[in-house]
Amino acid sequence: MILVTGATGNVGAELVRVLAESGQSVRALSRAGRSEGLPPGVTAVAGDLNRPETVRETLDGVRAMFLMPGYGGQRQILADARAAGVERVALLSGRSAGTGDTGNAVAGYLIEAETAVRKSGLAWTSLRCTSFMSNALQLADQIRKGDTVRVPFPDAYTTDVDPYDISRVAARALLSDEWAGRALEVTGPEALLPADRVRILGEVLGRDLRAVGLTNEEARTELESRMPKPYVDAFFSFFVDGTLDESQVLPTVREVTGREPRTFREWARAHADAF
Ligand SMILES: NC(=O)c1ccc[n+]([C@@H]2O[C@H](COP(=O)([O-])OP(=O)(O)OC[C@H]3O[C@@H](n4cnc5c(N)ncnc54)[C@H](OP(=O)(O)O)[C@@H]3O)[C@@H](O)[C@H]2O)c1
Repeated sequence: MILVTGATGNVGAELVRVLAESGQSVRALSRAGRSEGLPPGVTAVAGDLNRPETVRETLDGVRAMFLMPGYGGQRQILADARAAGVERVALLSGRSAGTGDTGNAVAGYLIEAETAVRKSGLAWTSLRCTSFMSNALQLADQIRKGDTVRVPFPDAYTTDVDPYDISRVAARALLSDEWAGRALEVTGPEALLPADRVRILGEVLGRDLRAVGLTNEEARTELESRMPKPYVDAFFSFFVDGTLDESQVLPTVREVTGREPRTFREWARAHADAF
């Protein structure tokens, strides 16, 4: 039995599918215990990662778990997992964990989560992912309204990765000890600017989309309307001050899964309906 937390999320939902297709027994955890859209044979369970007591029962009979980072209950959940006989944990993390900068709000919570899994006594693997291709879904409202798409950090090249590829790496880490004790740096296959992604989305959707870069001031206002200021400061530190370089393509997905990671065009084709 494999427990997937964040099962309604971008990576978790793909992982549930990948594991179910390979014949694994899967428990899919979300706060509401949502069962809609789950593949046959997958059991939905409810649990809140900020409240370990709500997760404890779901660990019964579990051999490996996929863990979302940064929730208040993570240390206790890992201790409960060990007590329940769980053998392996794969943690969803980010490239910024590698900066070691605990003063940065995003890197800080990822570093804390990585430290917790390293000290858990379980066989652990951290998946240090670059930005997700699914972040482009945040542009969907603008794209539905018109052809001009305003994007933050227009000069930042990033090698965004498809959550599908993250889930395939996670599945390998959950099913064997080969990747235990490793922080895997997971990237997509190409470095793109936000404007490149908008252009590719336009080509896939048959639309003449045009990206307009937000100034730093505009980007700060826009980001602060949807996330706490320390996280906005963290992203400014990464992509304006340049404390995080996500422009490098790394061979991890191929090395772990034996297949090339998907391109942004492939992701856009698979998710065109969302736009
Ligand atoms: N987005 C990126 O570019 C990026 C890059 C590197 C790392 N990451 C890491 O990946 C994580 C997921 O990113 P995402 O943007 O793809 O998010 P997402 O798809 O929205 O996933 C969030 C998931 O977490 C679950 N969740 C939220 N609060 C919870 C709680 N208290 N207890 C249990 N489950 C809870 C949600 O389920 P319910 O709401 O249904 O309960 C949902 O399944 C981020 O938090 C970040 O740490 C993201």
